[in-house]
Amino acid sequence: MNKNGEENHGISADQLVGLLIEMEQAAREEIKASSQPKDLLRIEYLGSKSEFARLSHEIQHVPKTDKARVGILINQVKQSIEGFIENTANRRLTVDNLQRFDITLPGIQPPQGHLHIVTQAIMEITRIFERIGFTRVRYPEVDWDYYAFEALNMPADHPARDEWETFLVTPPWKGTNKDKRFTSIVLTPHTSNGQVREMEKGTMPIRMINIAKCYRRQSDVSHTEMFHQFEGLYVDKNVSIAHLKGVIEYFVRSFYGPKRTIRLRPFHFQFTEPSFEIDVTCGICLGRGCRLCKEGWLELGGAGMVHPNVLKAGNINTREFNGFAFGWGVERTFMMKSGTKIDDVRCIYGNDVRFLQQF
Ligand code: DAH
Repeated sequence: MNKNGEENHGISADQLVGLLIEMEQAAREEIKASSQPKDLLRIEYLGSKSEFARLSHEIQHVPKTDKARVGILINQVKQSIEGFIENTANRRLTVDNLQRFDITLPGIQPPQGHLHIVTQAIMEITRIFERIGFTRVRYPEVDWDYYAFEALNMPADHPARDEWETFLVTPPWKGTNKDKRFTSIVLTPHTSNGQVREMEKGTMPIRMINIAKCYRRQSDVSHTEMFHQFEGLYVDKNVSIAHLKGVIEYFVRSFYGPKRTIRLRPFHFQFTEPSFEIDVTCGICLGRGCRLCKEGWLELGGAGMVHPNVLKAGNINTREFNGFAFGWGVERTFMMKSGTKIDDVRCIYGNDVRFLQQF
């Protein structure tokens, strides 16, 4: 019996307060490390069989005068543990979510780019011609008017020049160069400027494929001011139209597939004689005639036997050598692959990835 006449179970108010605080500390540590759900934690740490419940019961043995103080503490400890369970479990929920991340799910792939369609086409065209001994060359895309026209049998004021809608860099009357050939500069309207430049190298035979940017003052659904051409030139002894036809047929079958074939249609260019336009059977109807092509043929581009005046401009002996040439648009050639239907060529350079991703 103590001085208040109560039975002493060997616990004072201060001892009980100490035990409660110790218990709360231990509970917090355990809750932090535990992965159990909230409900089970509440049962374990605050339920009727918990250490908290056991200590709370001890209040009955505390002297009356201390009961209020201890009671308040018991409540505080209870709220504190409840709050701690709530917070810790909530935080753990997000960590759990992360830990339960399913590694078998497909990952988030960063978007993968690819080469521009024109680059792809240029690479393919180059590869096809390299297989038969042609070499890819590059010549200026801003060049003397001489190489773009004059050396190609189109002297100044020749009406044939009008076809090319050329951007002039220096007006023809402003040139100051003493060499009359080099007085004005143009943005090359075709890759044919490479022909005489290649001949001037002086190595025979010539098997060149010149792929470059070209510029013309034209913009509509089938033209862009900047586009690409590839120009073939073959100069050797005894070259015939049969060689020209064979090379073009080889290219068309390699690029478009074995079912496509060509025809030569008589035409006129100043730098070739005779000249032709090359048509390819339509990829949709294979020559039978359909809505796209109307008569079964699609126009690929120009070709012909190199004009003697052009060979002469390139210092080539026309009694010994002759050759053929052809020049086609890369974009147009690419668009004529079956399955590729582009209503507006300008999309190719619009840089809209939704368009470019299709190829
Ligand atoms: N240079 C011509 C053009 O841009 C195309 C061309 C036609 C090139 C006949 C040639 C050729 O080499 O022989 O329209």
